[in-house]
Amino acid sequence: MEITLESPLDMHLHLREGAMLRQVAPLSARHFAGAVVMPNLTPPVDSLERLRAYRAAIMEAVAPFTFTPWMTLFFRPYPTATLAAARDEIIGVKLYPEGVTTNSAGGVRDLEAVEDTLAAMERLGIPLLVHGETHGFVLDREAEFLPIYARWAKRFPRLTIVMEHITTAAALELLERFPNLAATVTVHHLLTTLDDVAGGLLQPHLFCKPIPKRPEDRAALQAAALRAHPRLMFGSDSAPHPRERKEAAACAAGVFSAPVALALLAGLFARHDALANLQAFVSDNARRVYGVTPPARRVRLARRPWQAPERYGDVVPFYAGQTLEWQVTDVEP
Ligand code: DOR
Ligand code: ZN
Repeated sequence: MEITLESPLDMHLHLREGAMLRQVAPLSARHFAGAVVMPNLTPPVDSLERLRAYRAAIMEAVAPFTFTPWMTLFFRPYPTATLAAARDEIIGVKLYPEGVTTNSAGGVRDLEAVEDTLAAMERLGIPLLVHGETHGFVLDREAEFLPIYARWAKRFPRLTIVMEHITTAAALELLERFPNLAATVTVHHLLTTLDDVAGGLLQPHLFCKPIPKRPEDRAALQAAALRAHPRLMFGSDSAPHPRERKEAAACAAGVFSAPVALALLAGLFARHDALANLQAFVSDNARRVYGVTPPARRVRLARRPWQAPERYGDVVPFYAGQTLEWQVTDVEP
């Protein structure tokens, strides 16, 4: 069994900087024609100058692959003129509530105080990407954030709001209520639950924010992805950390899935007899939601078992050392 995908896209990706960027970026660029690049560096990407330098470093790291890094600015209460100047160089602005995840210390403290900026983004047609978690009990953080999404979706009906890495059935229900909401979902949230992370021996390489939830949440996410819900996009949230930051007393959040994501998705869709919907889920939905055109690149996968590497440099991937049913067999550079 085989499938050829036209320009697969990863609509939520952490590439880091320096040696880590050079290590992980080619692994994404090999399988994906483009990706939405997250701005949670230290310090965050919050100026056009920094964004341009980061984009240039990414382009250098992905060569010779043809790969579009769609850049995001880290949310600040930017003046309208700053947003207007940035508009043609960004795909959106990423909002992190303060302190909810890796490198979000500079995030938003007062979610009531962002509305002027959201109004300007709506006028300028700049999408808002959101890490939607509160500071509540860890399993309830996404659910507690849903009313905030609803309020913004209602108040700014022409603002495209992307609920990043959704993990609950409740988030999918909200997606149905507002046409200006879209969402990304990761491959690890499609495949794991909290049991995989903490039900047996603790699995640091599966630990991420938001934490994977209940089996019924995963089932709802799978159902929506497998039918390629038109406003649901694949976003890996692949988030590499060096092994010593994961296998540690204070384990960093993040699953490094970039090199295995497409193969795992093909396996999931094939098992559910839904391969015909994979193109929409990994590319076409994103093109429509964001109005972007990726570079034309075909990526072929086949049902041929392979063993995922134990490491890429000092980063341990999702499914390290395990056998995957499907593999990427051919890529156009
Ligand atoms: O698990 C996560 N890791 N979740 C995030 O939101 C950020 C990411 C990271 O940057 O490591
Ligand atoms: Zn992320």
